[in-house]
Formats: sequence, structure tokens, C-alpha cells
Amino acid sequence: MLKKIGLIGGGYIGGVLTQEIAQRGLAREIGLVDPAPMVNPNDPPERQEVVKKQSVSIGKALGIAEGLPTIGRDIKIVGSKDYSSLKGAELVINTAGVPRKARPDGTFPSREELLTINLKVTSQVAEGIKANCPDAIVINIANPLDAIVFALYKKLLPPKNKLFGMAGVLDSGRYCYFVAEAAGVSVENVNALVLGGHGDDMVPVRSSCQIAGIPVEKFLPAETLAKIEARTRKAGGEVVGLLGFGSAFVSPAWAALEMAEAIIFDKKKIIPVCALLEGEYGFKGLFVGVPAIVGRNGVEKVIEVDLTADEKAALAKSVAGVKKTCDEAEAMLAKI
Ligand code: 2OP
Repeated sequence: MLKKIGLIGGGYIGGVLTQEIAQRGLAREIGLVDPAPMVNPNDPPERQEVVKKQSVSIGKALGIAEGLPTIGRDIKIVGSKDYSSLKGAELVINTAGVPRKARPDGTFPSREELLTINLKVTSQVAEGIKANCPDAIVINIANPLDAIVFALYKKLLPPKNKLFGMAGVLDSGRYCYFVAEAAGVSVENVNALVLGGHGDDMVPVRSSCQIAGIPVEKFLPAETLAKIEARTRKAGGEVVGLLGFGSAFVSPAWAALEMAEAIIFDKKKIIPVCALLEGEYGFKGLFVGVPAIVGRNGVEKVIEVDLTADEKAALAKSVAGVKKTCDEAEAMLAKI
């Protein structure tokens, strides 16, 4: 159990994180930050006074805290509109920013299209962390994931093991789920890995996908696997299109919690995370989804897996996309 976990963003993912951290007893205290709802200076003064007293984070914290006697958990849950409730957090999970949302015509933006709006929030996130818990390990969930981790790195300059992104657990989980469904086996039997950026060019690695230790090709034909891999790449968008109001929130929260538990219990668990590469897989200076040993110190070691020539080419394409978004982020950061 940690002394304190800080959560930035009180939206759907932040809510599930708060609830699960409480239920699993992962920390003695949770600090939940969200500035919403924001006062609109064009509203009549009476309305502005009402909004000033409202708070998504304080409300969500209180709503969950009132259930603690029912689940028998003696922990403290504090919400704040500013970053003060992060004070002293040992681990921070960032979800700040807007999610993808279906447009009235049913189309939806790419994760990369969220960069301009979410990068502004990321600068405030970095300031909040610096002021309140500069030594915390930080897991980012906000999108475009790889570029937001990169931006946090530029702003915070932390040791590389202490900052990483959640995406590989979610994307690999989606791959496993679709394989298990098609093969008619337990999800617990499937072991699969998705590498690269958390975008539509991510790389489901067929050569390391196994069912109960047996290569997946023994169970499913190549065409079925190709369809599953294409669906995995766009699985986040599939949920966005179906929901209409936002993006997936329970599976991303569970994925981040798998990472958090690896840290909290010093599991040394090999999980795919968005980590800083310094030559591994032939890339440098970018945060990319790769398997890594995760323990009390965060990302303790990046693991290099053997890839086929096609998988290497797909990874290079995915990383080129990550680089493009990071270059845009860097240019924007210089102006914020
Ligand atoms: C997803 O893929 C939220 O980016 C996240 O669902």
C-alpha cells in the first residue's frame, strides 16, 4: 500500500481509478484533481457564483468516500479544483484533457487531433506535479498518449524510469480478448503483445502471440488473425463510435492499475508500457510502447523481443508517426 496516489482528471477514467484504488486498498490516501466545472465569465453573476461552488473532483471524492464504510476501507479521498490535493503523492496517474468523442455525423477525431487542446492542459499538469509531488512516479493516460508523455518529460525532466505511459496493456488486452473470442478459449490462456505508438499504426506482434504457450497460428487461420490485428489497431475508435459521448474508460483504468500494482507491490512484472527508448529497438529519445520490467522503481528495464522483418517495418512506421506528433508537440510547447 502506498501512502498516497494522486489522480489528475476527474472524468470517467479518473472516477474508475478512484473507485478501484479504494476497493483494492492500494493507497491510504487518494488526491483527485479536476478544475471542472469552469466559471464562464459571460454567464450572469448569480450563475457564476453557483459554478464557483461546484466541483467534479470534490463531488466525486465525497460520493466515493461515503461508500467506504460499506466496503470496509479506512482511506482518505480528497478532491480539489487546484493541484493541492496532489501534495505528497508517491504515484500520479494523469488523465487530464479531453477524450475522443463522436461528431454528430458519427465520425470522430484521431488521438493525434487532440494534441493542441490537451497539450495546454499538460503544461498545467506538469506545474502541478512539480509544485506538489516532484518525486512521484507518473503514469500518463491522456491522449495523444506517446506525445503527452514526451511533453511531460520535457517539462519535468524526471529520471527516465519514473515517467511512462499506459497503452500497451490496454492494446495488448484488446488483442488478447479478440483472439480468445475467435479461438473459443479463456482470456487467461492468451498471451499477446502490441508494440509502438498508441495510434492506428500500433503493432500487434503475431510472432509472440500464444495460446497456452502454443503459437496462435495453430488455432486461428492467417486471415482471421489479420482481421483481429486490424480491429485491435482501431479498437479505441470502435468504442468511441459506439459510445457517442467519449472513449473507453474502464479498460484504460484497469490497464493503468495493472501498471500501478506492479509498482506498488514491486512485482518486476513484464508489461508493455510507453517508455523512453535510448537505442532499444533502434530508436532514441522517444516514448514508445515496448515490454518492460515494472517494479518499485517504475520502468526498471526495457525488454527487446525478436521481431519478423514485417513487424520491424510496421514498428518503424508506427514510431515515425509518434515522432511526427512529438515534433509538433515540441514546437507547440515552445509557444505555450
Ligand atoms: C483508448 O484507446 C482511451 O486511448 C484510449 O480507448
